Amino acid sequence: MGSIKAVIFDLDGVITDTAEYHFLAWKKLADDLDVPFDREFNEKLKGIGRMESLELILEKSGKTFSVEEKERLASRKNEHYRTLIQRITPDDLLPGIRGFIKEIKKEGIVTGLASASKNAPFVIKRLKIEDLLDTVVDATKVEKGKPDPEIFLTATKQLGVEPAKCVGVEDAKAGVQAIKRAGMFAVGIGDQNTLSEADWIVSAPAELSLHELYQRYQNSN
Ligand code: BG6
Ligand code: MG
Repeated sequence: MGSIKAVIFDLDGVITDTAEYHFLAWKKLADDLDVPFDREFNEKLKGIGRMESLELILEKSGKTFSVEEKERLASRKNEHYRTLIQRITPDDLLPGIRGFIKEIKKEGIVTGLASASKNAPFVIKRLKIEDLLDTVVDATKVEKGKPDPEIFLTATKQLGVEPAKCVGVEDAKAGVQAIKRAGMFAVGIGDQNTLSEADWIVSAPAELSLHELYQRYQNSN
């Protein structure tokens, strides 16, 4: 059934709710800097690398910062984030995601991870899902961040599958754009308006099913 050969997942906000931890860590930093920061603005930071996210926050401060100050601020945010992720356990996998990945693998489809986070290897370890992923590409392995397709294309190459036969799963607008630019089928998890460029949008991972994915994928080809 179907011709999907690989499914490549984003990590934060797709496999586990670390998107919330990134939000909390940025919020703490923004509060310290007296920069207004809310969930709507946070949407712009999803899927985007650490320094780029910091730049977007600092733009709102109206002040200028030296390279050293920016590095210090980025480390401070990362410390807040690292404190939050220490307590992650396999129970923090989002509902339905383990079952979905297992279903995929049972069909002989290979799996990958494409995460803009340098903390991805740590989080995967805490979740104990290394065995469920055939390849992992994190921010340290690529030059360009999402929405550039590099991270997804690197994962497809490592898996040895042509992009047209690959599906990407993302919760961020920049991530969905990266998947589409890579020439893959995009599944969006979250808000219909934000993720409108995706080929299929669900509101949570629990709604994912391989059967429906096959149907949606086939109808798009
Ligand atoms: C992405 C998140 O996965 O990783 C972003 O969506 C985060 O919110 C980015 O800023 C970078 O993460 P880290 O852990 O390298 O600071
Ligand atoms: Mg994400």
